[in-house]
Amino acid sequence: MAASDQLTIRRPDDWHVHLRDGDMLRLVAPYTARQFARAIIMPNLAPPVTTAEAAGAYRRRILDALPEGASFLPLMTCYLTDETDAQALEEGFLDGVFTAAKLYPAGATTNSAAGVTDINKLDPVFERMAKIGMPLLLHGEVTDPEVDVFDREAVFIERVLEPLLARVPGLKAVLEHITTGDAVDYVNAKAGSLGATITAHHLIINRNALFEGGMRPHNYCLPVAKRETHRLALRGAAISGAPWFFLGTDSAPHPIADKECDCGCAGIFTAPAALELYAQVFDEEGALDNLEGFASVFGAEFYGLPLNEGTVTLARGSAPDAGDGGVQPFHVGRDLNWRILDNPEERR
Ligand code: DOR
Ligand code: ZN
Repeated sequence: MAASDQLTIRRPDDWHVHLRDGDMLRLVAPYTARQFARAIIMPNLAPPVTTAEAAGAYRRRILDALPEGASFLPLMTCYLTDETDAQALEEGFLDGVFTAAKLYPAGATTNSAAGVTDINKLDPVFERMAKIGMPLLLHGEVTDPEVDVFDREAVFIERVLEPLLARVPGLKAVLEHITTGDAVDYVNAKAGSLGATITAHHLIINRNALFEGGMRPHNYCLPVAKRETHRLALRGAAISGAPWFFLGTDSAPHPIADKECDCGCAGIFTAPAALELYAQVFDEEGALDNLEGFASVFGAEFYGLPLNEGTVTLARGSAPDAGDGGVQPFHVGRDLNWRILDNPEERR
């Protein structure tokens, strides 16, 4: 196999993932741990992870769900509510339990009912986070039912994010799972003070995928995929080499029965082949040289964490159809032409 048919990069991290709990955790955590050295773990369990004690216990359950010998570090987040106490949050951060805090506008998405109802009221918390350098991770959508669902991210930037960053200078924020050219332009304009994660699925599908020959619940997530111009803008951002854009899968598994029903859950499950999906996109764009920065360097640098030791090798060739257990992985039925080499002897 020619050298260009293999790609070896520093071990990557996933800066946004949902691992759930219980049986689902045991099913999905090994996929993420196989690909990524670390991941930012979303706290939207039921009930949500709002205290350092709960986060510590959840971290232990995650580690218990990993296969023998796995080397994977879960980075825990605190779910912000109207009641979050700045002092307790700071202690959880300084103790090394919390890596970041996650803001869900109340009602924006799965298990966000306990989220923040009035973001202005949390300014003391944000000011404390700015002071201690604790990252704020944002689900960037307004919940106003008057706003069209496809416009909720762009309106969030204008109505919520820009005023917040003006009120709290120095706040280290990440706009999660961006889906629009508006977000790309805004994050670029901030030139480094604001980070953004980009999912594999938003680089691959546009909103037509929701209605391809009928309703396609497994392509439904929040923020919902937008029109093609936005997908192209996201691709441009991901491959650009701008260090404020980095990998965050937002892999969000739901049982098939909770997707294929009258009111299906939002969430796309990409964990079994996440890195392969990104590699395919970068390859299609002729930008494989920029995959390592996006997947393995920029996020760590933004968070101020060391880069991972070790490497992972991808090779051209179809990816395995892994994933079952009553959850539908995104890659199944798609032609994937990269796979991770588990066997070091295949590396060249
Ligand atoms: O599609 C999504 N699924 N978006 C979110 O923000 C939450 C996630 C989930 O937890 O299922
Ligand atoms: Zn998410």
